[in-house]
Amino acid sequence: PEPSELTERILKYLEGVEQVDSLQLAKEFGIEHQKIVGAVKSIQAHGERLLHVESVTRKSLELTEEGQAVAQGGSHEANVFAAVPEQGIKRTELLAAGGVSAQLGFSKAMSLGWLWLDRSVQPTLVRRKVGAIVDEVREQLLQLAELSAKDVAEYKKRKLLQELTIKSLLLSKGAEFSTTLTKLETDLTTDMLASGQWQQLQFKPYNFDALGAAPVRGQLHPLLKVRSEFRQIFLEMGFSEMATNNYVEASFWNFDALFQPQQHPARDAHDTFFVKQPAQCGPLPEDYVQRVATVHSVGGYGSRGYGYKWQLAEAEKNLLRTHTTAVSARTLYQLAKQPNGFKPAKYFSIDKVFRNEALDATHLAEFHQVEGVIANVGLTLGDLIGTLHEFFRKLGISELQFKPTYNPYTEPSMEVYCYHPGLAKWIEVGNSGIFRPELVLPMGLPPDVNVLAWGLSLERPTMIKYGINNIRDLVGPKVDLKMVEEGPICRLDHD
Ligand code: PHE
Repeated sequence: PEPSELTERILKYLEGVEQVDSLQLAKEFGIEHQKIVGAVKSIQAHGERLLHVESVTRKSLELTEEGQAVAQGGSHEANVFAAVPEQGIKRTELLAAGGVSAQLGFSKAMSLGWLWLDRSVQPTLVRRKVGAIVDEVREQLLQLAELSAKDVAEYKKRKLLQELTIKSLLLSKGAEFSTTLTKLETDLTTDMLASGQWQQLQFKPYNFDALGAAPVRGQLHPLLKVRSEFRQIFLEMGFSEMATNNYVEASFWNFDALFQPQQHPARDAHDTFFVKQPAQCGPLPEDYVQRVATVHSVGGYGSRGYGYKWQLAEAEKNLLRTHTTAVSARTLYQLAKQPNGFKPAKYFSIDKVFRNEALDATHLAEFHQVEGVIANVGLTLGDLIGTLHEFFRKLGISELQFKPTYNPYTEPSMEVYCYHPGLAKWIEVGNSGIFRPELVLPMGLPPDVNVLAWGLSLERPTMIKYGINNIRDLVGPKVDLKMVEEGPICRLDHD
């Protein structure tokens, strides 16, 4: 029935009786108890004094499944006793068919003194010790009401009985009892106020416990949440953000400016996405290009170069940038060109890069890099190590280790590892180094200026932070929008 019909049915019923238990009502109406409770609540919402409602908690004893079996078919011990014939029976034979309950019943029957073991014959026989027995357990289970507390405890222990807690409502008429409910107003209108009608009306009380409708709102993807944390850390450390708005980059900025030779395998179409349309970049700064060409082919600035024939056509090929270091190269070149002389600078970027790679559980063809760059007079490797400690400490990572590595554009170069207590191992978290003179000097930066840089992916810390094992669960068509919607906020320094 409709809830409103049910409320009236309950009120009508109460009109004729002194009191009734909600469980009793449920049984009589043939309705779920929960529905009765709901209807009582809505009656109460019409007025506190309509009904008198008292919650009652009762404990009730019930037979377990095993208890029911015993009540119907007899206790295990009685059944074992019944299975022993006048002339006795071999124990193995007696127990063979009955399984665990026969085992239990046998020991019980022995301790009750119903059976004995006749060792005067070979093999030993189980014999009856008494002529007849009374199956007290069964009788007691059939008369639960008469059980003593001690027996109840015993049968609970034997898992023949269980105690259930039953909650219900005891209903009786209240001081303002009525069998009909007035419709409750949910809005106080200006008309009601103007006419004074509000004084006669009954208003529905506010439900302060209602959860309310969830507000419709957007939710940041975990990558964006982690990105804003990284951005915050860089800003706190006095870094300013580089312009990363070009996904399409000239090979020149992505490789050549970074002293990466034109035959380098990373410049192969197997590793890099080259752009077909437009295949070539616009004009490059001519004199700077000339200096880069020279340092690659014949050297300079104290370097022997690579000794190959550098080609402009190769440098002009458009590609999807393979690392954000391309942006760092552009930015440092701009810094070197500042008309009023060199000023120390700290930059960062967090954006997308692309690699023509085999896809697997942890690699996609596009991902994000986080990069930091510091240019100042007289910087050392010690400054880089110190900065990395400071940076990662703000990420909540205090234990770092460094391992020498090779990058075409940095010397020395270090891989950065951190100890992850959750994964209980050292994991690689980044790459770093000091930009080579072959890179910074052609740009026009002063010779006593060193440039420190480091980079890491955004996906890796995000996957660790959000406990995601497969990159496809983080990015792409398989992403569970619920994961995005319900994902917690990210505080990298508060783990
Ligand atoms: N560009 C490097 C990469 O793609 C990261 C890096 C940045 C290394 C800056 C050293 C200095 O892995």
